[in-house]
Formats: sequence, C-alpha cells, structure tokens
Amino acid sequence: MKKYNKDWLKNKTVVISGASSGIGKGIAKILITKYNCKVIGIGRNKEKMLNLIEELKENSNNFSYQLFDVSKEENWHKFYDYLTSNNIKIDILINNAGTLPPFSKESNFTIEDVKNTFDVNFFSYIFASKILMPNLLQSNTPAIINMCSSDALCPLVGTSSYSASKGAIKNYTEVMHEENKNIYVGLICPGFIKTDIFRNQKQKTSKLIDFFSMDLCKASKKIVKGIKKLKKRYVVGFDAKFMDFMYRHFPKFSLKFFRFVFKKSGINLFSDVFN
Ligand SMILES: NC(=O)c1ccc[n+]([C@@H]2O[C@H](COP(=O)([O-])OP(=O)(O)OC[C@H]3O[C@@H](n4cnc5c(N)ncnc54)[C@H](OP(=O)(O)O)[C@@H]3O)[C@@H](O)[C@H]2O)c1
Repeated sequence: MKKYNKDWLKNKTVVISGASSGIGKGIAKILITKYNCKVIGIGRNKEKMLNLIEELKENSNNFSYQLFDVSKEENWHKFYDYLTSNNIKIDILINNAGTLPPFSKESNFTIEDVKNTFDVNFFSYIFASKILMPNLLQSNTPAIINMCSSDALCPLVGTSSYSASKGAIKNYTEVMHEENKNIYVGLICPGFIKTDIFRNQKQKTSKLIDFFSMDLCKASKKIVKGIKKLKKRYVVGFDAKFMDFMYRHFPKFSLKFFRFVFKKSGINLFSDVFN
C-alpha cells in the first residue's frame, strides 16, 4: 500500500492539463510556490504559458509546459514518450482542461458540438489517466485528480452536453476511486469560479452569477487543500453545495427550481434557452 502522510503533496512532479489559465493556472502556482512541486502544464496557448512563467518569477524553474490538444489520444502517447525519454517520473495527474459551450437549448446543439465537449471534458481525462498510468504507478504517492463541476451534481438548463460530460467524468472517477487502492483518485466539483471559461458565451455573465462566483485565488487554495486531504469528492463553493443538496434531496423539484430562478432573473446568458 502506498503511503500518503500529511505532507505528501510536497516536492512532487505534477502534470496539470489546462494550466495556461483559470483554475489550472491557480493550482499550478500554489503547488509550485507553497509545496515546492515541479509542474508540467499542458495547454495550447503559448502566450498564456509564458505569462504564467513571468508571474512565477524566481519560481519559474519549477514550471515547464507542453503545447498540445488534450482531446487527441495520439498527443498523450507522444507526451508519455516525452516523459520516458527525458526520464521524468510523475506523481500526480490533474485533469483540469475543460470547455463550456454557449448556454443553449439541447435542440440547438449539433452532434459535433456534443462530441467536441465530451472529447475535452471526458475523453481527454481517460486518455491521460490510462496512457500515463504506468509512469504514475512508479510513484510512492500516485494520484489522479479529475476536475468536475457542480453541473454534474445538479444539471442546469442550457448545459446539456457540458453537464453530461461532467456527469460522465464524475461517475467514472467515483468508480476508479473504489477500484484503485494503490492510487489516490479524487474528484473536484466547483461551483461558479471567476475565470475566462465564459468567454465562448454570446452574452456576458450576469450580476447574479458574478455574485455567486468564487474568487479564483480562494477557489484554487481550497482545491489544493482538498487534494492534500485526499478528498474522494470535494464540492467547492456555497452554490455548488446548495445545488448538491437540492438535487440529492429534491431531484425533480430542483431542476424546475433552478430553471425558474434563471428564467425569472432574466440572465442574458440564458437568453437562447428561454427564447
Ligand atoms: N470556472 C468555473 O466556474 C468552473 C466551474 C466548475 C468547473 N469548472 C471546470 O474547471 C476546469 C478549468 O476551467 P476554468 O474555469 O479554469 O476555464 P479556463 O480559464 O477556460 O481554462 C481552461 C483551460 O483548459 C485548456 N484547454 C481547453 N481545451 C483544451 C484542449 N483541447 N487542449 C488543451 N488544453 C485545453 C485551456 O488551455 P488553452 O487555452 O491553452 O488551450 C485552459 O488552460 C474545467 O474543466 C471546467 O469545466 C470551472
């Protein structure tokens, strides 16, 4: 049995997908500056990676990056070969890259839209976990953390494909957790967090959503704390906890309740859903 003591996060080598911005970047910064981890960040945007390096200042030696599309299986094989040829042993994989399609009615999404969402939010996590597993298992404290969403705990109108992709990774991760006793497998379910994930929306986020959204720095600290405590399933934020509670206790009512709230509040983000 592998050993995870209270300082297990220190000095680890961590792979984070989607480290170029938002939550992935926030987590990378904390792991590097507070836990002296070496982070290999994955994303597609070189400029954003260079910004992160600049922000890390004297700690930037502990960050390196690889640019590739995480939704393509062959890219993970190439990444595995890169690790092997450079003799890099990893301890932790944080599957965090994600995409949020514009909020819209299910009938407006094409098959291609749904596939693209699953390719990033679900299949990239499976590719990474399966392909990197032989490398991870050489660690004394191997860990896989999958970034989920409160939308997997309580599906919201307008988010059919996103919610389904997050629901799929939630169930997959929970089964992995039960089946793997030699590796810590954790699931993080954040509520709204202030990042650029809404950039693809046709409308700006509303005051109501901004009010509930957690500051990125605070959210990143909480997430790292949850990982350190080896949480099996970590729900982050009041909104996420509320959604979790509502759907667990009042599954039918909660779907109608949130639909009603979004409709009545006239949030522009949902205009395609209610028109
Ligand atoms: N923000 C929230 O309110 C919230 C709530 C619940 C869950 N989450 C989840 O948290 C995770 C991070 O989201 P975020 O809010 O930090 O969003 P974000 O700021 O948009 O960051 C998304 C990251 O994913 C990367 N990415 C996306 N598609 C990729 C692809 N095909 N290949 C490689 N990298 C890709 C992006 O990198 P490049 O731009 O460099 O490609 C970026 O670094 C996501 O899984 C999201 O679903 C977010």
